[in-house]
Amino acid sequence: MNSPFELSKEEMKTYGYKIIDLIVEHYETIDSQKPVTSASRAQMDHLFLQEAPNESMPAGKVLDFVMENVIPHSNLTTHPKSFSFVPGPSNFISTLADTLATGFNIFSGGWIVSPAAAELEIVTMNWLLKMFNFPVQKGGGIFTSGGSMANLTALVTARRIKCGDDFSKAIIYLSDQAHSSNIKAIRVLGFKKEQIRIIPTDLEFKIGFNKLKNAIAKDRLEGNQPFCIIATAGTTNTGTVDPLDDIADICEKENLWMHVDGAYGGAAILSKKGSKILRGIERADSLTVDPHKWFFQPYEIGCLLVKDSSWLSNTFSEKPEYLRDIEGNESEINFYDYGIQLTRRFRALKFYMSIKTYGLDAFKKAVTYNIDLAEETEEMLRKSKNWEVISPATLAVINYRYNPIGMHLSEPELDKLNQEISARVTKSKEALLVTTILQNQVVLRMCLINPSTTFDHIKETFSQCHEFAKEILAEWKVV
Ligand SMILES: Cc1ncc(COP(=O)(O)O)c(C=O)c1O
Repeated sequence: MNSPFELSKEEMKTYGYKIIDLIVEHYETIDSQKPVTSASRAQMDHLFLQEAPNESMPAGKVLDFVMENVIPHSNLTTHPKSFSFVPGPSNFISTLADTLATGFNIFSGGWIVSPAAAELEIVTMNWLLKMFNFPVQKGGGIFTSGGSMANLTALVTARRIKCGDDFSKAIIYLSDQAHSSNIKAIRVLGFKKEQIRIIPTDLEFKIGFNKLKNAIAKDRLEGNQPFCIIATAGTTNTGTVDPLDDIADICEKENLWMHVDGAYGGAAILSKKGSKILRGIERADSLTVDPHKWFFQPYEIGCLLVKDSSWLSNTFSEKPEYLRDIEGNESEINFYDYGIQLTRRFRALKFYMSIKTYGLDAFKKAVTYNIDLAEETEEMLRKSKNWEVISPATLAVINYRYNPIGMHLSEPELDKLNQEISARVTKSKEALLVTTILQNQVVLRMCLINPSTTFDHIKETFSQCHEFAKEILAEWKVV
């Protein structure tokens, strides 16, 4: 019997070229599209809910249905006015590299199965190690699905190396601005609430260093085992970088593991300003960076770097009998020995092909542009009578709120006003601009890591916000 999944060469070509055309069209027209979409569960159920069909349907018809119903109901995180969360600017070369990796279904777990895939992961990892001033010979790393998995992989490793099998008294420290994926990872690891110390941040949203030192000292006195500090290099809320050198000093003194979560902010190392702000990052034991954020890769690619690759193999290596034939020698890395996944997609390919094609200078230029753009936005806001900067432009993130001089709105009114501005902008679908909370204030936040975002895009969104603000205040009869 022929495989029921076979298509003729002509059918495959027609189908494939149609998809390529659709992707190219998407890239070409993104600026004229709207970044935001919304739909209720009931609407989506109405469109899609059905039993798995037993009968076949022409491939083109399924594709048309998807293009009409699935794609338009997805926000465009690559859009230049997609300002919220951490956008995913992506790039065309990596998009097709991913297609290539999937097309050949390359297994990126063991050396013997795909030596070139393993070698490209080694090579690209070396590029990253060098970028962050980690030792290239001794150091190592692994690509993961994203930052959350990289943080989890780091914390498993930290605990294994620092605590071995007994972690009943182990204590881990992180700030109240650390990303939620760290708490998730700590929970996955089975730590109890009593083993986690969430350290309040200071007025600049950096981990309160004195409070951190006090907490460690107190834990020692109580007979606990401090073992790891998670520092953030680019908090999601404000782009703030914790005092990395100070944290490295205390880790050295106290024999603690230093993990740096640089999922979005780490890429700033590519710019002069960013590398200054990130000083001390090279002293981390482990570092998360997320190429599907500010290294402009499509989802999913995260990365964990470590100072000593044997920490990963000592933590994750298992030698089951059914893998004995593909073990190879020590220099031929089996990436299934470096992390949780056995079967892995070929993530290194997109990173490799995009850097080879565009050149690292293009990435440096883009990151530098993004940092400057956020600073230019801050300057514009500082000159305005209507806007108040709540946290200054840092690593391309800026937080602000509408608070016109002389209007003397109360804090609850300001919260309500800014929440409503965000809701109306999002409802217009022209830009994705959501709020966050900083020091108990509702603020608007922009994460400007898309190199196709221009200052005009930003100004357009601010004037839209201003118009909505006037409309809301008029409705409230404040003006
Ligand atoms: C600082 C930080 N760490 C970790 C993550 C989680 O990364 P991912 O969404 O790729 O799992 C994020 C995501 O925004 C982040 O900003």
